[in-house]
Amino acid sequence: MKIIAAIIGTGVGLKHLEAIHNYKNSLVKIICEKDKTKLKFLKKKFPQIKIVDNEDQIFSDKQINLVSIASYDNYHFSQIVKCIKNKKNIIVEKPMCLKILELKKINKLIKNEKIKIISNLPLRVNSFFLNLKKKIPKNKVYYMEADYIWGRPHKLLDWRSKIKDYSITLGAGIHMIDLVMWLLKSKPISVQSFGNNLGTKKIVFKKKSFALFIFEFPNNLIVKITANAASIYNHFHELKIFTNNETITHCFAGTHHFIKKKNKIIHNKINAEYPDKKNRKKLIQNFIDNLLNKNIKPIISFKEQLDLMNVCFAADKSIQTKKKIKINY
Ligand SMILES: NC(=O)c1ccc[n+]([C@@H]2O[C@H](COP(=O)([O-])OP(=O)(O)OC[C@H]3O[C@@H](n4cnc5c(N)ncnc54)[C@H](O)[C@@H]3O)[C@@H](O)[C@H]2O)c1
Repeated sequence: MKIIAAIIGTGVGLKHLEAIHNYKNSLVKIICEKDKTKLKFLKKKFPQIKIVDNEDQIFSDKQINLVSIASYDNYHFSQIVKCIKNKKNIIVEKPMCLKILELKKINKLIKNEKIKIISNLPLRVNSFFLNLKKKIPKNKVYYMEADYIWGRPHKLLDWRSKIKDYSITLGAGIHMIDLVMWLLKSKPISVQSFGNNLGTKKIVFKKKSFALFIFEFPNNLIVKITANAASIYNHFHELKIFTNNETITHCFAGTHHFIKKKNKIIHNKINAEYPDKKNRKKLIQNFIDNLLNKNIKPIISFKEQLDLMNVCFAADKSIQTKKKIKINY
């Protein structure tokens, strides 16, 4: 099998191009971009790739068997549906969609077709987090904190301030929610969320730019997650994991391990492989491996992607209703 791919959107989509083009049996045949200035640049930079401004040129091309969706969040759902209807495998930027009804439709359509889909959640291939996953004694964790500190407030002022259903939970918090569920190999039972927009200019960005989620996991484990888009800070994924015997803290000031030995607390600094940008493309490349050889397991299953979206929708519902929400999977 040969992978003939297309990419929609060339912000982070250019990273998808790097991951796909010339990887194993793969090439990118078409790039779709609707920004006229970028179109000119793309035609010059990639003369061997067909550059178009109408996505239907991708869906009508019978050769294309993989579409990478890196458009604005509000286009993901309709582009996923077109992919499924035209039998094209899908890499989709997070979030997969913006409404629970859309998620239900995707689930129904994918179940009927032999299409594979992966959401781009690259923290799962980050060396530091992979290492951490092997080391943390999951059943001993009693509390965890995970903060998505975006550190790029200007990003809220672009398309993110214009689209109707933009959500900071689906746009930022989703990375930490997935990271926590994956590290703990567990799903939260309920969520209580809070949000504000005190850190942003309300006239331009009308939605919440900060959100705090308190998740209850099985066995009384509690996790606090924040999505902090207004932050004046460096882009960082901060983490604190507490067990009765050990603590790991990963923040901009450094990564540390604390352990209790003979009633003494021993403290070590860890040289974390973070942000580990070189490995980010591995998630997409593993998906291609899985398309080429079904014995290779995908890093994220379809069910995990659905569960993650359900958790995010429940977290947003809690912000709207100001109530604790039981999460349905
Ligand atoms: N996984 C991650 O870590 C990560 C990081 C950044 C962005 N994202 C996601 O990637 C997507 C794109 O964000 P970005 O930061 O690259 O934005 P961006 O504004 O930098 O780039 C998006 C590009 O896509 C084009 N575009 C948008 N909709 C299109 C459409 N329907 N057809 C053709 N072209 C279209 C725009 O003209 C623009 O050039 C978003 O869904 C965002 O949430 C994910």
